[in-house]
Amino acid sequence: MRQINQFTITDAVKDSFKTEEGSRFKFLLEGFITHLHDYTREVNMTHQEWMGILNFLYDCGKISTPERHEFILLSDVLGFSALVDMLNTRGGATEGSNLGPFYLDDAPILELGADLARGRDGTSLLVHGIVRDSLGNPLPGAIVDTWQADGTGTYPIQEQASGQDKFDLRGKMTANEKGEYYYTTVLPKPYTVPYDGPVGDLLRAGNRHAWRAAHLHYIVRAPGMRAITTELFFENTEYIDNDAVFGVRKSLIAKLEPVKKNEEFAFALETRPDAKCRFDFVLAPEG
Ligand SMILES: [Fe+2]
Repeated sequence: MRQINQFTITDAVKDSFKTEEGSRFKFLLEGFITHLHDYTREVNMTHQEWMGILNFLYDCGKISTPERHEFILLSDVLGFSALVDMLNTRGGATEGSNLGPFYLDDAPILELGADLARGRDGTSLLVHGIVRDSLGNPLPGAIVDTWQADGTGTYPIQEQASGQDKFDLRGKMTANEKGEYYYTTVLPKPYTVPYDGPVGDLLRAGNRHAWRAAHLHYIVRAPGMRAITTELFFENTEYIDNDAVFGVRKSLIAKLEPVKKNEEFAFALETRPDAKCRFDFVLAPEG
C-alpha cells in the first residue's frame, strides 16, 4: 500500500474490507466507496469543504431525537427518499411516496363511512375509491390505513402538549366486498418540514422553501399483495409543483370536486361533505 496515490486509493480501501464475495453488502459498500472517491476527485475537494460536510452531518446527528430524525429529513429534501420509493414501486401498482415522520402502526379502527374530522374546522371532504389488483379485480378486506394533518396543516400528534389526541385524524378501515373504501375527513392544509436545524440551513443556502403540498398519507395492505406506502395530493393546490420533499407524482393527484346541494351518495356517511375526491389503490402481488 506504499505506492498509494489519489487514483489507487479507491481499490486499496475496497480491498481492505474482507466482505463476502457476491454479497449485497459488498456490492453496496464498494459502490459507495467508488462514488464517494469519484465525487471527491471530481470536485477537487478542499480541507475546508471536507470538514464542512462532516460538521453538517455531525449537526444532523446532534439535533436528532427519537421524535426527530434529521437524516430522514435530509434524505427527503435531497430526493433520496423519493428515488428509493420510485425504485421500489412495482409495475402496475399505485406509485409509492413518502412515509413521513408521523406514522403510528396502532391507529384506531375506522368504520367505513365514518368521519375522521369529528367537528374540526375546515372543508369536510369525502374520500372514496376501490382497492384493486393490477388486473382490475377488487380486493375485499384490504386494509386502508390513513393519517393526515388538519385544516391548519398540523398533525394532532404534534399538539399533544395542548391536549390533542395523537390518534386523531388517523385510522384503519377495511374495504367492503366490492373492494370499496369511503370516509369523510377534513381537507388538510400544506405544512413546512422542520427548518430550524441543519437541513433548514441547507434549504436556505439553496434558496428553497420548506413547504409540502397538502396530502393524505396511506399504507394499503391486502393478503398476498405487496403493501404500498403512498400519499394522495389534490389538483390545483399550493406547492403541488414544488413539494419540498419531491413526494408528488402525477398519478397521485386527485381532483377535488364540490358536493352538489342535493347530491346523493351510494354509501352511508356519518357527515355530509362539502367536497369529494376519488382515488383507487392498485396493489401488485407479493414477491
Ligand atoms: Fe405528511
